[in-house]
Amino acid sequence: MKKRVRPIIIGNWKTTPATLKEACTFVKQLEKHISSSEKKLANPHYLLAVPDIYVTSLLPLTVHGEIGTQNISGATIGQATGLVTPSMTASTGSTFTLLDHSEVRSRHEGDVTLSTRVALSLKAKLLTVLCIGEEERDPTGKYLAELEERLKETLSQVDRELFNNLILAYEPVWAIGNKEPATAAECFEVIIALRRALASLVGIDHAKKVAILYGGAVTDETAVTFLQEGGADGLLIGRASQEVLSFTTILKRVFARA
Ligand code: PGA
Repeated sequence: MKKRVRPIIIGNWKTTPATLKEACTFVKQLEKHISSSEKKLANPHYLLAVPDIYVTSLLPLTVHGEIGTQNISGATIGQATGLVTPSMTASTGSTFTLLDHSEVRSRHEGDVTLSTRVALSLKAKLLTVLCIGEEERDPTGKYLAELEERLKETLSQVDRELFNNLILAYEPVWAIGNKEPATAAECFEVIIALRRALASLVGIDHAKKVAILYGGAVTDETAVTFLQEGGADGLLIGRASQEVLSFTTILKRVFARA
């Protein structure tokens, strides 16, 4: 597959920072760091998946970035206390959302099936970052077939024409929040399997539209390896995106002019 022109670098803030004031300071500092080194960078860009309640305050502070959310419900307008609908999220200026992150999955909160939430999110015109990854690896490679199967189940109802706005994030659950990421070779193997599953589901042309990212224990040291050797079109970064200096370092390394 032709390499994408610009890697997709997404920070996942989870439940950080502690206050809106800190969140605003973070984005201002991040923008300052990017602007001051812009001459050395080629088209720098970032996405930040932030707590819903911070979105509208952060949006006006971004110049090189986009703000999105970490989950979306399948709620519709009406009587669902505590939930936010996909159209509400889109209307605040969020351009994207994560879906089915393993930390969300483990809370079993889904109000409607994942496949319905993917469809609703895409229909609301949100760039939809669907997370997928194995809990653990078995020596015979059964996890690959299981991931392919899960992907097919999740996407079989989704209109192919909406695939332009779909991104997959391969996040092995055993790497998330841990010290060791997958190796570039382990990442590559799964990305190829996911591409194959997509192609058999919707045909090669639609499959090609879908970027596949890697996430799980990415640091400023390892970020570029996943893009260059792991076959990833971008990165989904937790801890290293929650600290302004490490996130800036990643952006500088990824977008350094060749
Ligand atoms: P991590 O988290 O980079 O801290 O491992 C990744 C994620 O949860 O998306």
